[in-house]
Amino acid sequence: MKVTIIGSGYVGLVTAVCFADLGHEVICIEKDDNKLNKLKNGIVPIYEPGLDDLLDKNRKENRIKFSNSIEEGVNFSNIIYLCVGTPQGEDGKADLSQVEEASRQIALYMKDYKLIVEKSTVPVNTHQWVKKTIKRYIKNKEIEFDVASNPEFLREGSALYDFMNPDRIVIGVESKKAENLLKELYKYFIDKNYKFLITTPAAAELIKHASNSFLAMKISYINMIAELCEKVGADINEVADGIGSDKRIGRAFLNAGIGYGGSCFPKDVKAFIKIAEEHGIDFGLLKETEKINKQRRLKFIEKIEEVLWISKDKNIAIWGLAFKPNTDDIREAPSIDVVKELYRLKANLFLYDPKAMENFKLLFPEKDNIHYKDDPYSAVEEADALLILTEWDEFININLEKIKAKMRLPIIIDGRNIYDKKKLLELGFEYYCIGR
Ligand code: UGA
Repeated sequence: MKVTIIGSGYVGLVTAVCFADLGHEVICIEKDDNKLNKLKNGIVPIYEPGLDDLLDKNRKENRIKFSNSIEEGVNFSNIIYLCVGTPQGEDGKADLSQVEEASRQIALYMKDYKLIVEKSTVPVNTHQWVKKTIKRYIKNKEIEFDVASNPEFLREGSALYDFMNPDRIVIGVESKKAENLLKELYKYFIDKNYKFLITTPAAAELIKHASNSFLAMKISYINMIAELCEKVGADINEVADGIGSDKRIGRAFLNAGIGYGGSCFPKDVKAFIKIAEEHGIDFGLLKETEKINKQRRLKFIEKIEEVLWISKDKNIAIWGLAFKPNTDDIREAPSIDVVKELYRLKANLFLYDPKAMENFKLLFPEKDNIHYKDDPYSAVEEADALLILTEWDEFININLEKIKAKMRLPIIIDGRNIYDKKKLLELGFEYYCIGR
């Protein structure tokens, strides 16, 4: 099949490359010239494991191409995916201006039937607005079209795996024609008996926000239990294993730590609270989820102060700037708040992350007491303490004896619970973690 993807950001690009790899012919429309030039030359502007190789393969096999022309995209196929950004706007509401603009432009160039599919995360009933906009701007009012919702559930860092191994594919459709087109597009997964849910567009839109909010809630929940564990001397990992062994609950997303970040959970929880509010519903549960998550960063800073007493002039190594491992994304990362506060307190900071340092430098350029290091070992040289903010494998598998030998004081404050506490104490570290 032929597919058009509008917007070559994270979601658009992964979707496009994966559809191409399934054998479809894909065109990606991107209006940012810089990004477009990179993509045309086979350069992936973001870090996502495996994406560059897969793009390369599908470019060579001529299944994917890039353009800045919406007209070309609309003429190319009759399935058009909206993968444009829906950033946080005023008061936490999603800013839908790019969805509106893309809908208008699609309408201008439509000459025959099109199925417009929302992939971007949008508030419930956005499909109604997309439909209304196309109806208003389309020149030939006789042309038929459908609007559907097909939310994405890709995690950064494992997006390709998630695309190819979905827990479920959700399509929200209003016509048999739209349903059949999407079934054909996803035939590979249907043939392999993956769960394929057919809903209304409104339900599909809600499923996306409700899923992310639920996962965020799970994280805040376990983080509160972790706080209680610290008070009563229990180990959060044991508690999480115990709770998570109940199939109805599940162990995933019960890892306590410094809280969630990224481009999705913080934005989506906020947007979902707003959506509920607009319908007269006070979603207190999610407000509390958000509040608990914000407190994690403050509590972590408090922990640093309790351990170090005074941060001024201390050499503090920080491992992990990305909001999670296997990505260079630092949006809403806990590292931002921690670095900001320690900088204010005049600590000497030595930062290391395997992928996110270039992005972090844009926020915190190298200066007097902010230093970037090329590897985790040089970051801890003469350090009074090491903070761990992202659970990269590189840190989990590190030679801790070598680390200890380099540090001035063997103090680790671990915001992601990556080490065996007993082992660290045996090695002679002072080890502080979350809920243990
Ligand atoms: C999330 C969802 O997991 C995806 O299903 C969804 O498609 C995506 O948002 C999106 O809306 O685009 P992502 O933000 O990439 O994916 O990352 P997650 O793996 O979900 O992690 C989110 C945050 O939660 C990270 O900061 C992570 O460190 C934190 N987390 C996760 C915990 O603190 N504890 C856990 O047990 C799990």
